[in-house]
Amino acid sequence: MEIMEKAPAKINLGLDVLKKREEDGYHELEMVMASVDLADKLLIKEIPQNQIVVRTNATFLPVDEKNNVYQALSLVKEKYGITKGVSVDIKKNVPVAAGLGGGSSDAAAALRGINRLWKLGLTKKELCEIGFEVGTDVPYCVHGTTAFVTGRGEFVEELPPMPQCWVILVKPQFSVSTKKIFANLKMEGMEHPDIDKLRESIVEQDYEKMVAYVGNAMEKATMERRPIVRDIKDRMIKYGADAALMSGSGPTVFGLCQNYSRAKRIYNGLRGFCKEVHIVRTIK
Ligand code: C5P
Repeated sequence: MEIMEKAPAKINLGLDVLKKREEDGYHELEMVMASVDLADKLLIKEIPQNQIVVRTNATFLPVDEKNNVYQALSLVKEKYGITKGVSVDIKKNVPVAAGLGGGSSDAAAALRGINRLWKLGLTKKELCEIGFEVGTDVPYCVHGTTAFVTGRGEFVEELPPMPQCWVILVKPQFSVSTKKIFANLKMEGMEHPDIDKLRESIVEQDYEKMVAYVGNAMEKATMERRPIVRDIKDRMIKYGADAALMSGSGPTVFGLCQNYSRAKRIYNGLRGFCKEVHIVRTIK
C-alpha cells in the first residue's frame, strides 16, 4: 500500500513578535497563516527493512537525520515502538528556505501519511505535538487551513478560510536563515501589525479589511539585510497588488489580488525581475 500526501506552502498574512523569552531565547509570536495551492508531493510506502528512507528530486536537500520528514517519522517510530520501515519520496515544488514553510509542511504531510498508512489513530493534537519537536511551523501545517497561531508556534486555532484571492509568490534567488534573522532581531523600533483586526477580518470574511491589516514585524530586519525584498514589495504594489508582504522571515514576498488579469500583470511584471515567480490560489 502507498499513500500520497500533499504538502502545501504557507503564507503569513500576519506575523507579530511579542517578545524574546528569557527562559529559552525563543520568541513569543502571534501569526495568522494560510495555505496556498503550490505543494510538494509525498509518496509514502512501507518497506520490508526496519529503516526510514527519504528520497527527493531536490538533490541539494539532506535525506538523513537532518531532513524534517526523517525526523518526524523517527519520532513516531520511537514514541510508539514501531519496528516497521517506511520510504518517502518527496517531489519538491515549494521553494526551499523561502519563508513558505516547505520543510515544515513536508514533515506535517509525513505525519498525516504515516498515521493513515499504519492506521495509528493519532489525533491532530497528537500529530501537532510530535510535529512541534521538528519545527515551529509544523503544528500549523498539520492543520493546513487558515489559522491563528501563538506561543512559539504550538497553539493553533483554526479560522474560517481566508477570503479567496490570487496570490503571487516571488522568491529572490538567495535564502535567509530564520535562526540568524531571529538572533539579530531588535525589539526596539519594531513595527507591530494589528493581528486582532486581521483575525477579525477573516472571521468577518472581509477582503478589503484583510488587505488593510496584513503585516509582518520581521519584514524590516530582512529588508535591511536584503533591500531587494523591499524592491519586490514596491513593484508588486506598483503593478496593482491589493497588498504585498514578506512571508515568515523571508525572503519570499507575496502579493494578493482578486482579479485574475491583474494577478497576471503582477506575475508578468515580476517575472522580468526575479526568476522564481508563481501565481497560485488560496486553499479553501
Ligand atoms: O523552529 P524552527 O527551526 O523554524 O526555528 C528556527 C530558529 O528560529 C530557532 O532555532 C530559533 O532560533 C528561532 N525561533 C525563535 N522563536 C520562535 C521560532 C523560531 O527565536 N518562535
